Amino acid sequence: MPSVPLDFLGDLRRTHTCGELRASDAGKKALLMGWVHRRRDLGGVIFIHLRDRDGVTQLVFHEDAEPAVHQKAELLASEYVIAAEGTLALRTAENINPAIPTGEVELVVEKLWILNESRTPPFPMEDNVDVKEDARLKYRYVDLRRPRMQHNIILRSKMAYAVRQELTEQGFLEIETPFLTRSTPEGARDYLVPARVSPGNFYALPQSPQIFKQLLMVAGFEKYFQIVRCFRDEDLRADRQPEFTQIDLEMSFPQQETIYQVIERMLKAVAKAAGCEIEIPLPRLTYAEALRSYGSDKPDLRLPPFHCVEDLFKGENLTTEGLPLVAIRVPKTGPVSRKERDELKAFGQERRLRVFDDAKRLERDFPAAMAEVRARTGATDDDLLMLCGWSGDAKGQRPEETMLLAAGHLRLQAGQKYNDRHQLLDPKDFRFLWVVDFPMFEWDEEESRWNAAHHPFTSVHDEDLDKLTTDPAHCRAKSYDVVLNGTELGSGSIRIHRRDVQAQVFAALGLSDEEARHKFGFLLDALEYGAPPHGGIALGLDRLVMLLAGETSIRDVIPFPKTAKGTDLMCEAPSDVPERALRELGISIRKK
Ligand code: AMO
Repeated sequence: MPSVPLDFLGDLRRTHTCGELRASDAGKKALLMGWVHRRRDLGGVIFIHLRDRDGVTQLVFHEDAEPAVHQKAELLASEYVIAAEGTLALRTAENINPAIPTGEVELVVEKLWILNESRTPPFPMEDNVDVKEDARLKYRYVDLRRPRMQHNIILRSKMAYAVRQELTEQGFLEIETPFLTRSTPEGARDYLVPARVSPGNFYALPQSPQIFKQLLMVAGFEKYFQIVRCFRDEDLRADRQPEFTQIDLEMSFPQQETIYQVIERMLKAVAKAAGCEIEIPLPRLTYAEALRSYGSDKPDLRLPPFHCVEDLFKGENLTTEGLPLVAIRVPKTGPVSRKERDELKAFGQERRLRVFDDAKRLERDFPAAMAEVRARTGATDDDLLMLCGWSGDAKGQRPEETMLLAAGHLRLQAGQKYNDRHQLLDPKDFRFLWVVDFPMFEWDEEESRWNAAHHPFTSVHDEDLDKLTTDPAHCRAKSYDVVLNGTELGSGSIRIHRRDVQAQVFAALGLSDEEARHKFGFLLDALEYGAPPHGGIALGLDRLVMLLAGETSIRDVIPFPKTAKGTDLMCEAPSDVPERALRELGISIRKK
């Protein structure tokens, strides 16, 4: 039983939203509906902040004017759902609230309906209260009422709409692809769904619509897109969820350039929907350049590049023979303590770097070389300047890459360490770029074989085709990533459209004809029926919204996300199922 008498909605209709009324509306009648955000009781007068999706309006209940209504308002508490009708009045000068758009007016209530009560919420509906994430996820429907979450989810909707609008204008068709399918090639574990009608067999939820979108090109649709849920059973991080959303697209007869232009126009439109201006075309770096300047395949351009300076220290034994010596500058750190330098040094050493953190000493020992290092890096006395080399042997298939990636981690770590001092990493500074021409293959130490760096349907650079079997380490792919502030936003490639070339790539990956047929037979068949040259890309919508919203976790832009352990705290999934359901599926659970 409700603790207060409740009213019916009946045919009550809102005349305005709670964010709409202004001084120019004073004197008008209005009927508002929403949640009791805050209540102040001053004896003869009660003030309620009424909240809906659109904003907050102040309601006033005067005991002397409307005693019965005032009495009813005394029953109200946080998060009760009400309807209130009255006349809009201007607030007195001292009561104006400039912080909200409706702050010059208040609704003097003449009629009140209590549509529902609420238990005391588990936490207040304010942004600036520190609430544990577990509680937020358990009561997600309450958490989502908070202004920041409302803003993020509304922003997400606007951005998705901008994607649809822009891509449709560019001639793309929105086409759906199946969720119950076979394993797809993205390299994470699949989520499996048992097939009741075929006991012992399983569908896989798609890790991406990769194969289907290629088939749509073979089917002649030429330009496809989809805002689509993908499923990957992998270790979770702040920018990864087991189910996430891609802006996925594919087109026939494109050059790489064509895809860059499609995506740049789309990003501009989406950023505009989020209230940000971005300049296009976006800068581009080849993978090799990104590695030598940033030690990363997803460089954060808000920090300055590093510089390879081994040529200045020939014969000085600062790095392993044949590997780079990298000069890292972090601007405007001011004086850096011994302890801070030691921490950075330890961070580098854990990654097998030899870190020379004492710039003064280097300058004493190598005055001419260090003068040139300062000239190349532009380092001033106010900056942190370090050199780092490799401490071990030049092992592995691409040792320079290993060393530069480690130096890239150190560069970021150093930048993040001093971020507080100078906001080097301003989240509102959106530095997009393309990283292109990735290596075709990555060496898998455990399995001692090559894996596809992107996926096995990616084209090799025309000039590197003959290296496929002779020199796979140096084969470049026609692949590209779009990167924003150190996060990979999207990845794509020009695909292989010829059956013979696909067979060569499978061979280079050590995949026998039989294995390839078992995994992707239907795609191989399709390549034999007039597959056009085609290519595409997929961007993570969650990551894009996260960065444009200034958030650091994709959980804050997904309405109902999973925890880092992959559980849904609200509906307690995953959960066990009744024995009968398992029997029907022909499944028995082996106890650990
Ligand atoms: P890829 O595997 O690089 O490419 O994925 C594309 C983009 O999807 C996002 N993403 C994720 N976002 C949140 N949680 C995850 N677990 C997650 N995994 C990936 C990232 C990533 O850049 N089929 C290819 C694309 C193509 O070639 O067209 C693919 O899926 O932002």
